Amino acid sequence: MNIILLGPPGAGKGTQADRLVKARGMVQLSTGDMLRAAVKAGTPTGLKAKAVMDAGQLVSDDIVSGIIGDALDGIEPGHGGIFDGYPRTQAQAVSLDEILDARGRTLDHVIELSVDEDKLVERIVGRFTCAQCGAGYHDSFKLPKVSGTCDVCGSHEFKRRPDDNEETVRTRMAEYRAKTQPILPYYEAKGLVSRVDGMADIDHVGAAIDAILDAKG
Ligand code: AP5
Repeated sequence: MNIILLGPPGAGKGTQADRLVKARGMVQLSTGDMLRAAVKAGTPTGLKAKAVMDAGQLVSDDIVSGIIGDALDGIEPGHGGIFDGYPRTQAQAVSLDEILDARGRTLDHVIELSVDEDKLVERIVGRFTCAQCGAGYHDSFKLPKVSGTCDVCGSHEFKRRPDDNEETVRTRMAEYRAKTQPILPYYEAKGLVSRVDGMADIDHVGAAIDAILDAKG
């Protein structure tokens, strides 16, 4: 099964993808994570992408569709993919169809996380992760049990994304409204879209997604 998680920054795409990886053995394909890894490694793609990402704008369609195709090639047959943050434009949606088709895969669900954008700014600006193991935390909702120490690996080093400041988050949301939300009718016409209330708590959002995946198989 291959699915798209669609929603604006902070809607919970990464959180739910992570849960599906653990619960169902699916593989998360996050273009944001792949681009951040390329930036960190200083690859040519990373060098091109860094300034665009820091400004909250979209990286070019060719770059992201290329890295998604490569990532999909790394998934063993029989394992489903969770597209997290891809596609984000109409051109990417068309590319994804071609990429899946060329690999004998089909798209089974597009799950839109509906959210109240004003509340998302708090979600994003407050989040941080362990620099060692990547465990996620939040200033308001989920602090480490022992202050300054990661619950999972005991590290004392944490980091925040450079694009998680309020001004950039507003740009990212505007990009979502202008370029990503308009691709929904493309998938609605194929009967693939289900909507989930992304403002419910994490477990309820997860249960709603599970119900969709289990109902349609
Ligand atoms: P990307 O990394 O994809 O960022 P994003 O879409 O802005 O999404 P986020 O990771 O910020 O949010 P999320 O929905 O995953 O929420 P999360 O689960 O973390 O992209 C970054 C940049 O890369 C883009 O701006 C662009 O430049 C570039 N890029 C990436 N893909 C691209 C593409 N296809 N084309 C072109 N450019 C591309 O949750 C957020 C917080 O909320 C966490 O703290 C979490 O714990 C908390 N939370 C989650 N769910 C809930 C809940 N239900 N209740 C309470 N708290 C919750």
